[in-house]
Amino acid sequence: MSKKIMLSDNIYWVGKVDDRDVPFHRLTLTKGTTYNSYLLMTEKPTVIDTVDMSFGREFVENLKSIVELEKIEYIVINHTEPDHSGALGSLAIKAKNAVIVCTSLAVDQLKEMYKLHNREFLVVGDGDTLDIGGKILKFIETPYLHTAETMITYCVEDKILFPCDIFSTHVANYEYFNDMAKEDINDDYIGYYKLIMHPHRRYVQNMIKKIRNLDIKMIAPSHGYILRDKVQSFIDIYDNMSKNGEIDKKALVLYSTMTGRTKKIATIIKENFENQNIHSEIMDVNKIPKEEIIKAINEADVIFFGSSTKYADIIGNMEDILKSLNDLNLENKIGAAYGSYGWSGEAIEVVQDYLKGSNIKVLTTSDVIKSTGMIDIEFPIRIKFSPSLNNVKNIESAIIYTADLLLSAI
Ligand code: FEO
Repeated sequence: MSKKIMLSDNIYWVGKVDDRDVPFHRLTLTKGTTYNSYLLMTEKPTVIDTVDMSFGREFVENLKSIVELEKIEYIVINHTEPDHSGALGSLAIKAKNAVIVCTSLAVDQLKEMYKLHNREFLVVGDGDTLDIGGKILKFIETPYLHTAETMITYCVEDKILFPCDIFSTHVANYEYFNDMAKEDINDDYIGYYKLIMHPHRRYVQNMIKKIRNLDIKMIAPSHGYILRDKVQSFIDIYDNMSKNGEIDKKALVLYSTMTGRTKKIATIIKENFENQNIHSEIMDVNKIPKEEIIKAINEADVIFFGSSTKYADIIGNMEDILKSLNDLNLENKIGAAYGSYGWSGEAIEVVQDYLKGSNIKVLTTSDVIKSTGMIDIEFPIRIKFSPSLNNVKNIESAIIYTADLLLSAI
């Protein structure tokens, strides 16, 4: 590496500028991007994130010009997507004494991706610190920003935040720092936020709360510009754009229950909508007159339809309600199916079929994965017998997702 890019006395940028048209999340990044990796030359040399796999060999060669690879003691992987962990395989072979530092969720992914089954890992969680000999690193878990295993690393002495994808821009540039940029970077910064982070904005708010008390002098993300001028204003953009506005939306949770378990799920769904400041109503379709239910459907923005399964079928009046959907204009409304079951849960699938046959926007697992990459949210919501703690957690995520969809429609 001919030109050394320094963030402070002994912190080096060791990334790669990719000035091609880069295929990314079903888009093409026409301004390219950068894969920012950092080397902290302390008594225990530490690399934070790597670069895209296509540049692995070049990355390792460049590092060699600054540090003896066998002396690297830690490789911190904040996020496992291969544009940041892609060179880990090449690096780990040469930096054979390095311990890989990541969250618990990242360990198996990295082992599988880079055949690191026999490698030493150090699992870190929220608030954990690591002394790298002259500097302390602090770790902050940031799940779903934008995948489940992500974290931020904060260098206490230099007051530098290494947040990987968070606070990034997709711009190939050779200026590296925002105060050196040849153009205003705000549009690119906001565009990146909207594309990658906004679908997870509830989690952005959680992250902002966690970093609020840190003294941050510089943000060194893993794409685009390193932010060292007006740092707080870039955090504020995330904060402001991810906040809820006044929500004037209504949720309706309908259920038809056999043993009370589907009612229990309905109650959890309702509570979670309320936690998201969305007014919600719950109705037992077997106790409330049909015309009242139809009126409530017409007034709601999102409707969850739940039924227990008995003899492979929907129970009670729910099917009659579902048959009426074709007579209603459900455009701009969101619908989801759910229910408790004991064997196969056919009723939930039949409810889903009815929703698909109407003009409501039906929530599906496929859409969640395609729009957010989250894999713990499933639609329809199928729960065997009573909801477990894990089911409750997944319902919470499902309602946060649904609330975000409603907000997107404002
Ligand atoms: Fe830049 Fe999520 O990878």
